[in-house]
Amino acid sequence: MPPLLLEWLSAIARWIHVLAAILWIGDSFLFMWMDSSLEPPRKPRQGAVAGELWMVHSGGFYEVVKRRSLRPEEMPPNLHWFKWQAYTTWISGVFLLLVVYWLGDRALLLESGSRLPYGAAVAVSIGALLAGWVVYDAACRSPLARRPALLAIVLSLALAAAVFGLTSVFGARAAWLLTGSMLGTIMVSNVAHVIIPGQRKMLAQTRAGEPVDTAPGVLAKRRSTHNHYLTLPVLFMMLSQHFPSGYGHPLGWLVLLLISGAGVALKYVMNARTRSDWRAVTAGSIALIAAIVLTARPGVGPASASVALAIPVPDEQAFAIVERRCTTCHSDHPSNPSFPEAPSGVKLDTPERLRAMSTRVWVRAVETRTMPLGNLTGMSDAERDTLGAWLVALRRTH
Ligand code: HEC
Repeated sequence: MPPLLLEWLSAIARWIHVLAAILWIGDSFLFMWMDSSLEPPRKPRQGAVAGELWMVHSGGFYEVVKRRSLRPEEMPPNLHWFKWQAYTTWISGVFLLLVVYWLGDRALLLESGSRLPYGAAVAVSIGALLAGWVVYDAACRSPLARRPALLAIVLSLALAAAVFGLTSVFGARAAWLLTGSMLGTIMVSNVAHVIIPGQRKMLAQTRAGEPVDTAPGVLAKRRSTHNHYLTLPVLFMMLSQHFPSGYGHPLGWLVLLLISGAGVALKYVMNARTRSDWRAVTAGSIALIAAIVLTARPGVGPASASVALAIPVPDEQAFAIVERRCTTCHSDHPSNPSFPEAPSGVKLDTPERLRAMSTRVWVRAVETRTMPLGNLTGMSDAERDTLGAWLVALRRTH
């Protein structure tokens, strides 16, 4: 497919994806908030009332009453469902994976050293999305479900294994994104296979005038709470392509787990408005600080030692390395056919442009080694050392 068409498709899909995700997460936050803000009814109300609350917005007042079930004669003519936000997010997300990763450049999915054939990598990534749901759903349906703390521990360990596995198979950037896609798939499957069917069942019983079994409602609430706590980690993973110091770290899997833990703790604290839980605050802060400290360490590898020595490197030598390894993509007219324009608008084809971008060049090519993309142009460690030494000297003179 022509790269320009791919770029348009990915731009439009990303637009839809972000919009749908905002709506989905917005609903999730609003409904969780409403549930946690319910008060006992202050006037007599009919039916299985769970609570009521009042809101002011859009120039008016909203009186909300939550019912656990309805009687047949109470069935409203219009009942609003919230599911297409989730489905649209997932469909557009898979389309994005297709356009960006599966039909796009091999270098995005795999590092150049990987011996995995491209087709196999695509198959493994699709398999990971499905496997995530199968494992999660099985764990939730097992006897573990009766012990929520144990379930949480088992699922966290499974996530750790998945992150570790994905980061060892795929390119660092793709691995983080695929982890997010895997969790996103779990979330949408919760909606499609548990929450909505459960609610449909309750409604069918109501319509038929049968006694309503509220167990599916309880299960739906539990799964939607899981979804709710996954939102912050998934959001971070989706935005992580702008965070090479994280995914490019040799212990990237650990960085991601720490950040995910911090995200869950943050959501917990946001929800527990009336009882701010110092244990969650402490755990979340420690996880985040640990992630920051971890990434603040100098990148491991041979570069650090010789960069510290800062052997003088002539300008020409540094330009030649960048010319050889970077400008096939980062120039006015990239020769790499996958990029009609320089990726991220970064051009490194003149000494001025290279100097102007020196900090980011340092981060991407020397510190995190996340550039060249998938090391497609085969940059060697020695070249990174040399470029690093030149950049250090450049910094000193400015
Ligand atoms: C095969 C194409 C390709 C090659 C070769 C390549 N890059 Fe990139 N570069 C990309 C893509 C794609 C992006 C945008 C995605 C991203 O940021 O990961 C990017 C983004 C960047 C950015 C901007 C994002 C940021 O973090 O500031 C910098 C800087 C960069 N590359 C530096 C380099 C350097 C230095 C080299 C050579 C050592 C290089 N690139 C080689 C494809 C390439």
